Amino acid sequence: MIAMKRPILIHPDPRLKKVCPPVADISDELRALADDMLETMYDAPGIGLAAPQVGVLDRLIVLDCVKDEAAPAQPMVMFNPEVLAVSDELNVYEEGCLSIPDQYAEVERPREVRIGWLDRDGNPQEQDFDGLWATCVQHEIDHLNGKLFIDYLKPLRRQMITRKMQKLKREKARA
Ligand code: NI
Repeated sequence: MIAMKRPILIHPDPRLKKVCPPVADISDELRALADDMLETMYDAPGIGLAAPQVGVLDRLIVLDCVKDEAAPAQPMVMFNPEVLAVSDELNVYEEGCLSIPDQYAEVERPREVRIGWLDRDGNPQEQDFDGLWATCVQHEIDHLNGKLFIDYLKPLRRQMITRKMQKLKREKARA
């Protein structure tokens, strides 16, 4: 099966505000979706993508936060990811989102997180993440709960970004 790039939804879109239900059973169709999402993420390029961003309301995220192009890729596929524990220590990263192109803002989140999930074969996994990986996995899990990184910003800033995205979508529709 050849992975195919899927179109990424741009904010504002009602599908980006939905709480996604857990995946009951990991079918070949869902594995193909995960492969398509990795293809879409690498092509963008981005370091994480959640299923609702391609219009599928399932609890599925993919990520690869290896930034060094010479280093081997580390694609991760997580079904039903859950935050099991967080550190008291916080960390600030400048975040962006493939559904909010070219907009970046600092967001504070726990510096370390323990995540549990089902891998592509349905086996439970558990792992601690820190640094960029921790930020990214929390950002992607937020997507599954209908939350975007701009929801952490002050209302005025959030509205400004949303208006820019509305304008971008209008321009794209005309093109
Ligand atoms: Ni995002």
